Amino acid sequence: MISSSARPRRLRNLKWARDMFRETRVTADSFVYPLFVVPGKKYKKEISSMPGCFHLSVDEAALEAEKCRALGINAIILFGLPSKKDPLGKEAYNPKGPVPEAVRAIKRAVPELAVITDVCLCEYTSHGHCGVVTKNACGHMVDNDQTLKLLVKEALVHAGAGADFVAPSDMMDNRVGAIREALDAAGFQQTGLLSYAAKYSSAFYGPFREAAQSAPQFGDRKTYQMDPANFLEALREVELDVMQGADIVMVKPALAYLDVLRAIKDKFQFPTAAYNVSGEYSMVKAAAKQGLINEKAMVLEILTSIKRAGADMIITYHAKDAAKWLKEI
Ligand code: PBG
Repeated sequence: MISSSARPRRLRNLKWARDMFRETRVTADSFVYPLFVVPGKKYKKEISSMPGCFHLSVDEAALEAEKCRALGINAIILFGLPSKKDPLGKEAYNPKGPVPEAVRAIKRAVPELAVITDVCLCEYTSHGHCGVVTKNACGHMVDNDQTLKLLVKEALVHAGAGADFVAPSDMMDNRVGAIREALDAAGFQQTGLLSYAAKYSSAFYGPFREAAQSAPQFGDRKTYQMDPANFLEALREVELDVMQGADIVMVKPALAYLDVLRAIKDKFQFPTAAYNVSGEYSMVKAAAKQGLINEKAMVLEILTSIKRAGADMIITYHAKDAAKWLKEI
């Protein structure tokens, strides 16, 4: 009898053949490592909700960037915590804020490392929402178009400091087009745009909100972030961002949305990123601490699954550890 097999046993049984015919390869050059930059000097403090991640002053962020580069990581993404917050998030577009200062310091220290900046207001507003809050008949809401103006200002400040890419994560309508137009008009045609195109309103952001001190003080983000139940809407979001000039589109979170990621890759065949978010990271860390799992094996499996589902770029807090482990293999 002829036996059939999806992968012939003669290949499965040989290590060289398993290696040769593996379909997905995870490499450090697809990782982006997030850094949380705070005001001050020589400051480095672990974030309690995200063990292994730190609040860093600008000088410490530059040192961390050098370490990433040495591990073969080619890009970082910066989040900023301002010295003060107000309803309009003014520190978000202060050219002397922690993010623009960190961009300059990192570009000076490691020019070949790509620097991406998160463009959003939630870390900078006193109410913790991603935009300008107004009132409507149902209570508070975020004013989409007022917010766009501030996001554009923030993106221009980051580009002016030398960011290679800006990454709007607010989920306001038309922000990609507005930012692209403003960047071009200001002479930043070379600055790229990574759009958080399909960003879901997710419980997996919990640990990040402590890290960025950005938990909304009232209400939630459901009026601007996507409903986890919606799939077709993600395709429409991506289509609009591609039309408006995004260079890379992102799905966020990653693990509970791998179906969305695969569909977007197949449909648009466009540079695609996935954000392996804080909740996904901290769950692994907590389980590892309790001795419930093999952290290294689990992280590499998770990153492989995100890549297999279609991500070219993976933003992940595991980046440094994974880069080290991949060197050992
Ligand atoms: C800002 C922003 C958030 C994350 C990235 N950018 C938080 C949010 O939308 O509440 C989450 C990242 C993570 O959980 O790792 N809007």
